[in-house]
Amino acid sequence: MDSLNIDIGVIIINNICTLKCKKCITLTPYQKRPINFDVADIKNDIDGFFEIFEKCNHFDIEGGETLLHPDITEIVSHSLKYSDRFKYTAILTNGTIVPKKELLEFCKDKPVFFIIDDYGEKLSIKKSEVIESLKEYNLNYRIDTYHSDNQYCGGWIDMGDFSYKNYSKEQLMSNFKRCRATQGIPYIKEGKIFSCTIAAPGISHIPLLPGEYIDLRDKNQTISEKIETAKNFYKKPIAHCAFCNAFIISSPRIAAAEQFKTGELTDDMKICD
Ligand SMILES: C[S@@+](CC[C@H](N)C(=O)[O-])C[C@H]1O[C@@H](n2cnc3c(N)ncnc32)[C@H](O)[C@@H]1O
Ligand code: SF4
Repeated sequence: MDSLNIDIGVIIINNICTLKCKKCITLTPYQKRPINFDVADIKNDIDGFFEIFEKCNHFDIEGGETLLHPDITEIVSHSLKYSDRFKYTAILTNGTIVPKKELLEFCKDKPVFFIIDDYGEKLSIKKSEVIESLKEYNLNYRIDTYHSDNQYCGGWIDMGDFSYKNYSKEQLMSNFKRCRATQGIPYIKEGKIFSCTIAAPGISHIPLLPGEYIDLRDKNQTISEKIETAKNFYKKPIAHCAFCNAFIISSPRIAAAEQFKTGELTDDMKICD
């Protein structure tokens, strides 16, 4: 794989949500500072990303709950400035919010694809209405089922506690080669690009080393230097791999979207990444 020509670009646009999933991979329910990220910053980050990376198969917009962002239409529109660099922009949503008319109208006849994560009728309570609205505007979508048997991709992954794993060199390399996160899915969040989704802050707290991420807002680094860093993504394990279960087919699975009950999520469990 050419590291500037990657599989999926992902941007995280908020860390607030309508659900409280205990094992949320972005640790959204645990945020001390639940906000929608600033739209101007998000647009600059998208520009910065495409200054570095040449192409991706698709460019995904995620959260938090993506459709809670008040400027979602502007964000989608901005990502489509780069539509010659990817096949489509995907919007991931949890089936609790019907997309607003402005977004539906904007997406008509554009390369936008909705992914509805279906966490079951008690959680994804607006799934049918979301589907109706997408059908009404003739928009493309897919439903990923995360309840009952036969869950999408075998269900959610338990990333574990990020303790030091004491892998042998061979085990580390074997994990690295099979890990989905190393197959070219750089992850943009609040001004930084992380080579690995799991190593990004908010998921684990193992510090990354220089060269393992790109600071888009660092004015002391030139674009060429940032491109050089990106070229070295996915070449070898990063320090974080020694603490990780890896995102592989045999990773431990958990029930998707298990919710915190009232009072169960206490302030001392909250984090600020
Ligand atoms: C963090 S969510 C954000 C978008 C939206 N709120 C949703 O849930 O669809 C992004 C994607 O990560 C998936 N996800 C969350 N936690 C996960 C886990 N522990 N293992 C695997 N996938 C996970 C969700 O199912 C969703 O497809
Ligand atoms: S729906 Fe669940 S997985 Fe998606 S961001 Fe919210 S808490 Fe996380």
